[in-house]
Amino acid sequence: MTDSPWIAKWIACVAQERARTEPPAHFPPLPAIPAGRYIDPEFFALECDAVWRRTWLYAGHVDQLPAPGSYFLWSYGSAPVVVLRGDDGEIRAFYNTCRHRGAPVVRAAEGRVGTTLVCGYHGWTYDRQGKLRAVTDRRDWAPFDFACYGLSPVRCEIFGTWIFVCEDAAVQPLADFLAPAARYFQHLPLDKLRLANRRGFDVACNAKVLIDNFLEAYHFRLLHAKTTDRIFDNLGTSIHLWQNGHSIMLSPNRRADWIDPGTIGMPEMRESTAIERHHNPSYCVFPNFIVPIAPTGMPSVTIWPRTVRTSSVEVLWFAPSWGDGPRPPLWDTRVANFDRIVDEDIQFAEPIQQSIESPGFRGVPLNYQERRIYHWHEEVDRRIGADRVPAALRVEPMLARFVE
Ligand code: FES
Ligand SMILES: [Fe+2]
Repeated sequence: MTDSPWIAKWIACVAQERARTEPPAHFPPLPAIPAGRYIDPEFFALECDAVWRRTWLYAGHVDQLPAPGSYFLWSYGSAPVVVLRGDDGEIRAFYNTCRHRGAPVVRAAEGRVGTTLVCGYHGWTYDRQGKLRAVTDRRDWAPFDFACYGLSPVRCEIFGTWIFVCEDAAVQPLADFLAPAARYFQHLPLDKLRLANRRGFDVACNAKVLIDNFLEAYHFRLLHAKTTDRIFDNLGTSIHLWQNGHSIMLSPNRRADWIDPGTIGMPEMRESTAIERHHNPSYCVFPNFIVPIAPTGMPSVTIWPRTVRTSSVEVLWFAPSWGDGPRPPLWDTRVANFDRIVDEDIQFAEPIQQSIESPGFRGVPLNYQERRIYHWHEEVDRRIGADRVPAALRVEPMLARFVE
């Protein structure tokens, strides 16, 4: 892996970025992203339908489902979904809705069901694979086929230790969807990563205000003057755009030999290459799974639309195993340091949303260094179908020839 040709290519790209004094001559100026995409309810509905209901989305980590019957609720889709480990060890997802009159079959956000799921309303009983096994007062029902009344499944597949769901039954296999990005990090032992931390909060802005933020390094210099900017050189940031809306920004360490002092003594992924050791490779797994990878682990910022003007954020940490027992205390500082950076990122989100609503805001002009944002928006329009996007809100395709 260390001698893979793409590694040398990526490092050469960083050097080119550091050396250039203007945008590359062949790169077109980008039209502004229309402001209405962040405030228009009609566009929000199109985006929910075409992107958030039809794309593979990170839902959780296998550590959240340690035993048969363990479950958690995933509540960022069109309706709550219960993600459940069955008696056979398989992880499945179902809409959390009883097939009788629609009561939720689990109530708590996470937990462990007994050998069956019993609906609290009239007692219809499902097994841990989602099959209907019993109904109360069977004598009052005409004969019917139980097989037609199992919990309604939602597509659910695993990549490493990450559980993804998709509400579109016809979606392509997860591995195919992830491949354009995953081929660059699947040399890491992703099937052994532990869930080291999880926190969530809500923000009063359109999800794209936050997603845009995590797709560029242009803000490092000011917004992260005392944190990220001291470590990573945004002027060396190299960007690769991939199929399916995925992308990376690769920001080099300011000092090649720099090691995060907060990680000394933590177990490393020995498969890490010069990319993870000397850069911040921040992947965007379309649409909302931002993963900057270091040898000792990776946080993820995952951003969810709630309404056109509200979002939720989950900040997660995945790491190689620290062995038996609870998470070592070193992690407290590491998590706190990253939380500080995320808090810096978030601070402008709500004021930006308010300002986007003002007649003074016309649209978002983007520079060469911000082109991942444009690539992301192009993918959204591709998925919606450009002809279905109101003309005033459309993003003109500009970057197809730069997609690797
Ligand atoms: S709604 Fe679940 S048993 Fe009636
Ligand atoms: Fe940031």
